[in-house]
Amino acid sequence: MAESMKGLRRTHRCTELSAANIGEEVTVMGWVQKSRNRGGIIFVDLRDRSGILQIIFEQGEDRSRTVDAEHFEKAETLRSEFVIAVVGKVEGREGNTNANMKTGDIEVRATQLRILSEAETPPFPIESASKTKEELRLTYRYLDLRRPDLQQKIMLRSHVTAKIREFMTHEGFLEIETPILNKSTPEGARDYLVPSRVHPGTFYALPQSPQLFKQLLMCSGYDRYFQIAKCFRDEDLRADRQPEFTQVDMELSFVDVEDVIEVNERLLQYVFKDAIGIDITLPIPRITWQEAMDRYGSDKPDTRFGMELVNVSDVISGCDFAVFASALEQGGSVRGINAKGQGQMPRKKIDALVEFAKGFGAKGLAYIAIGPDGTTKSSFSKFMTEDTMNALIHAMEGESGDLLLFAADQNKVVWDVLGNLRLELARNLELLDKNQYNFLWVTQFPLLEWNEDEKRYVAMHHPFTMPMEEDLELLDTDPGKVRAKAYDIVLNGTELGGGSVRIFQNSIQEKMFEIIGLSKETAQERFGFLLNAFRYGVPPHAGLAFGLDRMVMLMAQADSIREVIAFPKVKDASCLMSEAPNVVDVEQLEELGIALVKE
Ligand code: AMO
Ligand code: AMP
Repeated sequence: MAESMKGLRRTHRCTELSAANIGEEVTVMGWVQKSRNRGGIIFVDLRDRSGILQIIFEQGEDRSRTVDAEHFEKAETLRSEFVIAVVGKVEGREGNTNANMKTGDIEVRATQLRILSEAETPPFPIESASKTKEELRLTYRYLDLRRPDLQQKIMLRSHVTAKIREFMTHEGFLEIETPILNKSTPEGARDYLVPSRVHPGTFYALPQSPQLFKQLLMCSGYDRYFQIAKCFRDEDLRADRQPEFTQVDMELSFVDVEDVIEVNERLLQYVFKDAIGIDITLPIPRITWQEAMDRYGSDKPDTRFGMELVNVSDVISGCDFAVFASALEQGGSVRGINAKGQGQMPRKKIDALVEFAKGFGAKGLAYIAIGPDGTTKSSFSKFMTEDTMNALIHAMEGESGDLLLFAADQNKVVWDVLGNLRLELARNLELLDKNQYNFLWVTQFPLLEWNEDEKRYVAMHHPFTMPMEEDLELLDTDPGKVRAKAYDIVLNGTELGGGSVRIFQNSIQEKMFEIIGLSKETAQERFGFLLNAFRYGVPPHAGLAFGLDRMVMLMAQADSIREVIAFPKVKDASCLMSEAPNVVDVEQLEELGIALVKE
């Protein structure tokens, strides 16, 4: 039976009490974490979002230390997850302090108990470091969200958001909301569409980002804008990707690359220090995209460990090993990494690495294992002269006990294979320290990327990104070589955010559309409102967006952004709790003028 809390008012959260409150009468409310009946005395761990507090119910004659029989009997019925209110007196825990608890040196001796709500036995225990399968936890997310470690993460997220707002506002950014119901402008990921009832046969698209609107705001003179913006992308999900996610989005007028980087470095420094006590040394290191690919095989390098790629194409050129020779002939390269001290890796494990590499498009993986005595085992030594072999080992800085791994292919494949192999080895060898926060700017991205399926260039960031001035001439002669004024901020191998300086000259924008195969008409149809706005006076502008979910995930040292989103979706973009997406009534469809096609 549920009692009301009439006449009672919560005075403290559980862990807001401390030895300073000893002697005070308090009223606390929350969930029963557990209850132990020791005959005549009942201990209850009371939990709220702040943590746990021990309550004591004692029976007996001494009215200053006990509850009356009615309340004691009620206390005997308490079970996990009952919601209760307790009035009592704060006491010190004479001799029985619990150092593992924030409130371990006090307890509340109850004088009154009300059971506000009873609870069925939950399908899994409400505890940190849960061993329960994620599917079950997500089905009962409202219970999962009671777990203290998850609550910490959700509270951290709230704190981070508050600090970001504080910083941005202080720096003169205006928080402005942009629409969720938009026109579809396909470029990038797939849109989520929303049918219009009033205009049958037409659709809104949910924003993949506020990109166009924030550029319009610059045209309208709001020279520093930001927004904590929900974005929607219908793409394949991974640990760091959700169909709806949150960006910390910003745009600035009358600025260039340096200005955007400068303010964002200070934002990161401020928020990381305040939220998790991490000191970021400024300036954050920068490397160009080309250097990132050459050294790490990735445009989001994890710089917490070395094992950098080495291009050995020159060393092995002219060798008889067909695999290497043909890669070079076809304009590719041969590169390697040195897994220090792994020369004794068993054959089975090496085979597993080969399989891993094949998952990223490698046709194989060549290796040299250097024994403790300096002798070598290799998958290809028979095709090599001793001199070439030695030169190769030298180029790789190979020493006794090392394992050298090589991939030969087109650059893109080699980078992808070795970049991922490098990470796999680091994971296997436990080289990744979650307490280390390595930030990195990656700059000068290519403006364009060749899409083999569509046989055309596509914008690597988006089509409003400004080419580097020194490369403008290449737009006509060799567009693939043009570098962009685009930058990503990377943290421990995760792309935390990205942005660019935007094109604000019509002539360059038109050329850009032409190169990516967008006719004048189509461009006008899709982005007309932006292009028109540019005709009425547009300031030079640039911006950036962070993935808030990823930022909090890394701060919380979580493995997935699902752990920092209150109600996340699973891999197939469904919500296990609410069962979205779902069918709708025939009437709803009719109203929208939508008929379903049978599969
Ligand atoms: P971009 O597409 O790089 O840039 O997105 C910015 C950041 O958003 C995060 N992010 C995601 N997080 C979770 N789930 C997803 N599906 C997802 N997709 C992206 C990443 C990424 O770095 N308008 C531009 C920004 C700009 O140019 O100002 C944009 O959206 O952390
Ligand atoms: P094969 O000639 O296919 O028998 O390969 C000989 C050795 O080269 C084997 O160890 C393969 O794993 C390796 N290998 C094959 N293709 C590649 C490649 N593209 N890059 C690096 N090594 C390769």
